[in-house]
Amino acid sequence: MSTQNSSLPEPDVAAKEHSATLVKMIHAAIADSAGAISFAEFMQLALYAPGYGYYSGGLQKFGSAGDFTTAPEISALFSQSVAKQCAQVINEIGHADILEVGAGSGIMAATILLELEQLAQIPDRYYILELSAELRQRQADTIKQSCPQLFERVQWLDALPLSGFRGVVLGNELIDAMPVQRFIIEDDQVREQVVVSHGDELQLATRPAGEELVFAVHKIEIELGEKFPEGYESEINSAADAWLVSIAELLETGLVLLIDYGYSRREFYHTQRNTGTLMCHYQHRAHPDAMILIGLQDITAHVDFTALAETAVANDLSVAGFTTQAHFLLSLGIEQRVTEFTDETEQMKVTQQIKQLVLPSEMGELFKVIALTRGLTEPLQGFTFQDQRGKL
Ligand SMILES: C[S@@+](CC[C@H](N)C(=O)[O-])C[C@H]1O[C@@H](n2cnc3c(N)ncnc32)[C@H](O)[C@@H]1O
Repeated sequence: MSTQNSSLPEPDVAAKEHSATLVKMIHAAIADSAGAISFAEFMQLALYAPGYGYYSGGLQKFGSAGDFTTAPEISALFSQSVAKQCAQVINEIGHADILEVGAGSGIMAATILLELEQLAQIPDRYYILELSAELRQRQADTIKQSCPQLFERVQWLDALPLSGFRGVVLGNELIDAMPVQRFIIEDDQVREQVVVSHGDELQLATRPAGEELVFAVHKIEIELGEKFPEGYESEINSAADAWLVSIAELLETGLVLLIDYGYSRREFYHTQRNTGTLMCHYQHRAHPDAMILIGLQDITAHVDFTALAETAVANDLSVAGFTTQAHFLLSLGIEQRVTEFTDETEQMKVTQQIKQLVLPSEMGELFKVIALTRGLTEPLQGFTFQDQRGKL
């Protein structure tokens, strides 16, 4: 363990054994792939290997007892605001469903359903697509407990529906959890970061990048109008593009609303951001070393929102809005909800939560919201205060 990470808490014996089993599985995958797997393949196994990956194992993950806290875990007001945006779309298109992809603990689903019940805009079905069997169970428990009367509307899917979806597709902190490819510029060549076995350890190495990755890197350089400098490293999220193509295929009418931390392409691949955006989260500490705590820590990368917008447009979706989380929530009137609380202590608590969601120094600026639509005509309420599509 490097000194940089020496302040990370030590996992207990059971956690270490769990991690060791996953590491063995990864060594086996490396042996099966002629001695190296891509970083994306490593990330896929580290997060989603059945029973052992970070998201597929039984770890706490979300909230104060876990490794990180997402907006729906901070405050119900976040999901209530998202629900308000869903209500506008449900109202416009009539009978509609919601499909939430990567629903975490299930708290956002439960809160959205309750809010839509209040707004008399309950979706016909609330579908959840979740890769982790353990999280599916947790989501079912949360929803059954919070809104038993709406539980029968919720249905878990094993795969994306094929076509004909009318309604809203939601993903909060979904895209950042998809496996990314990593590239490095070495000797003026694009090289791909891979993971290899070194005795019992897993190590990062590089190999010449394949045609597709070289093409993707050069395309970014052409768009930015400059070459990446020697030693520059970063990520490309091809999984997100492929996922969005599938979503575009299934959406007949409605909205795809994605909320995540990230930037426009120009900011994402800024020459000063020369070590990329990869980040690991373990017990509320963030660090960049993906080769430690394998299966015990989250691994994420920021989102290139320009890439999402390009894929959307290429697949006949409209980019109906792009803004910061702060502007999205304020456009939906999040701050006015404080007045719904009469108790002073509650008011203070809720005000604190709103600050965490909207202040630029907290989640307000780094987190962005993108709206991709098909067949909608009304301007979306969440983008009325500020629309930054010009930045994409
Ligand atoms: C960082 S967590 C966010 C959870 C939740 N949306 C929240 O905000 O608390 C990422 C979630 O996405 C899920 N996930 C990642 N890739 C997925 C995919 N391709 N399909 C479905 N779920 C996915 C993970 O299992 C996990 O539940």
